[in-house]
Amino acid sequence: MIYLVRGGNLMPSRDVWRMPKAGSLAWLRRDREDLADPGAGDVRVRVGAVGLNFADIFACMGLYSATPGGAFTPGLEFAGTVEAVGGAVSVFRPGDQVFGLTRFGAYATHVTVDARYLHPLPPGWTAADGAAFPVQALTAWYAIDELGALHPGDSVLVHSAAGGVGLNALALLRSRHAQVVATVGHESKRAFLVQHAGLAPHQIIVRDRRTFGAQLDAALEANRLTGFHLVLDSVAGPFFKPAYRRLHPAGRLVIFGSADLMPTSSRPNWLRLWWQYRSRPRVDPLAMISHNKSVMGFKLIWLWSQVDRLAPAYQVLTRDITAPPYIGRRFPFAEAPAAMRHLQRGENVGKVVLEV
Ligand SMILES: NC(=O)c1ccc[n+]([C@@H]2O[C@H](COP(=O)([O-])OP(=O)(O)OC[C@H]3O[C@@H](n4cnc5c(N)ncnc54)[C@H](OP(=O)(O)O)[C@@H]3O)[C@@H](O)[C@H]2O)c1
Repeated sequence: MIYLVRGGNLMPSRDVWRMPKAGSLAWLRRDREDLADPGAGDVRVRVGAVGLNFADIFACMGLYSATPGGAFTPGLEFAGTVEAVGGAVSVFRPGDQVFGLTRFGAYATHVTVDARYLHPLPPGWTAADGAAFPVQALTAWYAIDELGALHPGDSVLVHSAAGGVGLNALALLRSRHAQVVATVGHESKRAFLVQHAGLAPHQIIVRDRRTFGAQLDAALEANRLTGFHLVLDSVAGPFFKPAYRRLHPAGRLVIFGSADLMPTSSRPNWLRLWWQYRSRPRVDPLAMISHNKSVMGFKLIWLWSQVDRLAPAYQVLTRDITAPPYIGRRFPFAEAPAAMRHLQRGENVGKVVLEV
């Protein structure tokens, strides 16, 4: 525990990474602040690891609609040890190992949240495993089980398959006997997917924005498929339409990200973004009827207000995803900005975590 001297008294404190307001990654600052006792239904967790998400970067740049106005601490998920519990909390005790969700605020050495957003760490998992789990596993679950309406044997296109959501999606799809074609942005990730996710090389496309349609046709032929029943699109841009065109009748395209819009520097180039936004993919809803295809979108942060759905979802996920999450890079807490830049460059495989 770190203490601050206030009026001659020693006050417990915590370290946080703070944005004065959304705008530029370069504004992220480390700060020290008082640690309050948990409220009646709350639990204070001494954080062992923080899970990074693409959304953290979009939030810091002001490109994520759920970002708080004014100053905020990024971070949606963490894991660690329960340090103190509020008077109304009976399910956790100091010393329990937990992972949890928070609507921002996870880039901190201590996090206080409503106990309903915490879950016991599965046996044998480290804090890094726990911090790597909830957001990306829930995203894959929501896209595949809640929206995807998958049938055994369905063919599925998974973008960014070597990333956090992607690996969870592959694991869920394996347990549901789907036929998968995966895309990645770099050749190096192909070997990773072969070794780590058990895909055959002909199941993997290294995306090329100019020839993506032809790449899809070649992959469909190599895998003896004639189209996709489900597309999991987190990239958008020029990759949306070619995949949509190759949906089977009654096919579903679930879109939940737009990684193609990720700025390459610490703050957005608004002119370039405006141009990309203007040329974003569009679908005619009336044509969707005649083509018999669906497009669905979601943002996971909505589940924050549906807290009762978390426990059953975790039950499905820990049943069907048998291995702990794959952690591609660990950074010390002090190096949060470097960890975010690593994720921003799209070079990661698996999850990126901060270890406290
Ligand atoms: N809707 C929601 O609520 C929700 C929730 C969680 C995640 N997501 C979205 O799901 C996607 C995956 O999230 P994640 O946290 O698991 O991240 P991740 O997949 O581990 O990392 C992001 C990946 O995006 C890909 N990418 C494509 N174009 C890129 C570009 N121009 N710049 C940088 N990277 C680019 C890169 O993989 P490749 O180059 O190999 O494709 C990169 O590794 C993200 O788009 C995220 O925004 C949405």
